[in-house]
Amino acid sequence: MTAAPVIRFDVLTLFPGMFQGPLSESILGRAREQGLIDVQLHDLRQWAHDRHRTVDDYPFGGGPGMVMKPEPVFQAIEAVTGLAEAQPYRVFLSPQGRRLDRALVDDLARHERLLLLCGRYEGVDERVLEHTIDLEVSIGDFVVTGGELPAMMLIDAVSRRVAGVLGAEDALDEESFDQGLLEYPQYTRPAEFRDWRVPEVLTSGDHAAVNRWRRARRVARTAERRPDLLPTAHLTPEERASLEGDPGFAQRRVGDTIFQVRLAAVCTSSDGRVLLHRTAGDSVWSLPGGRLRVGESVADGVRREMREEAGMKVEPGDVLWVLENFAEFKSAMDGPGRGEVLRHHEIGVYVEATVPPRFERREAFGGVELAGTEHEFALEFRWFAPANLDDVDVRPTSMLPALREHLAAK
Ligand SMILES: C[S@@+](CC[C@H](N)C(=O)[O-])C[C@H]1O[C@@H](n2cnc3c(N)ncnc32)[C@H](O)[C@@H]1O
Repeated sequence: MTAAPVIRFDVLTLFPGMFQGPLSESILGRAREQGLIDVQLHDLRQWAHDRHRTVDDYPFGGGPGMVMKPEPVFQAIEAVTGLAEAQPYRVFLSPQGRRLDRALVDDLARHERLLLLCGRYEGVDERVLEHTIDLEVSIGDFVVTGGELPAMMLIDAVSRRVAGVLGAEDALDEESFDQGLLEYPQYTRPAEFRDWRVPEVLTSGDHAAVNRWRRARRVARTAERRPDLLPTAHLTPEERASLEGDPGFAQRRVGDTIFQVRLAAVCTSSDGRVLLHRTAGDSVWSLPGGRLRVGESVADGVRREMREEAGMKVEPGDVLWVLENFAEFKSAMDGPGRGEVLRHHEIGVYVEATVPPRFERREAFGGVELAGTEHEFALEFRWFAPANLDDVDVRPTSMLPALREHLAAK
């Protein structure tokens, strides 16, 4: 005799057939066979009593699509609830629900029994949700055609938290979101493939060194890719201190595009010139500045950038204008995308900044970008009168009309 399952799922759906493959293959199939989880599928049409087994109707107040009727859904929930002794925790899969994440998966895995209601069409009559549902759960900020795929994802994520469902080889420790950190990069044989070697430490046989490397990669990856996880991540005081100087940029990589907030300092001299800079030896000029960091105010970002690049203490003023900029280039910057050709989609925030008079008196001066890193390079700063802007290549060009207007008003 097998022991009672650790967790029972009752799924209410108009399409029970959709579940067959995912629930019978691989880890979930094995967990069901071993009796660790029990998944019962219930076809909602069983509770539609008219001749056509109707489960949907037009929305009151008009509008597109159909809505799932309250009577069959209510009856189904009541009937299914009575099929086992344990009271189920009732979940409706909905794009309007609480976003499924590791913490919610852990909470759900503590229940003995979960009832999952899958919506279709425009959704379910609101009275069902108000009077029978304990929690609405979303799998992300997008809409799919029905609650079945979201329910399968929830069953998968919750089941792998049940002891024994994963084999010893699929350790839960250190996987992504454990301790609020992403997982380290994984490699397998061969150690060299098309001239690309795996990191040497992994073939050193030194387990302590491997562990240190993996831990450092987890922390660095999380800082690069998901700085939003850092505030609640389990970090040692040393790890946290090491991140505080560089808590990650206010940027997000999606595919080959980096979305980021770029700050530009608009510094004008008392005689109406503007301060531009360029990589030493390059032909393209731009306003000085850099990327906003997570948790940093725009004013603090401008102060930091000017201090780091030019050793200059500026006083930030108003945001003068904001622009969306697009560019494609091989990134030399730290952080995600370094060395790759990536598209950059930037929100450029142009901030007025007052420079100390001694910098105004110098026509040109030097600076440095990414000081102290392997990507360090020299910068050249120079003051330009508005008329001289025509003689040089200033980027982004989309910013020039606003800059000229600002200089003219000075
Ligand atoms: C086409 S959707 C209805 C969307 C609804 N009209 C709205 O705008 O909120 C049909 C059903 O798919 C399921 N669904 C769609 N997107 C979902 C998501 N992101 N997370 C969980 N369930 C989702 C829900 O059960 C929903 O009732």
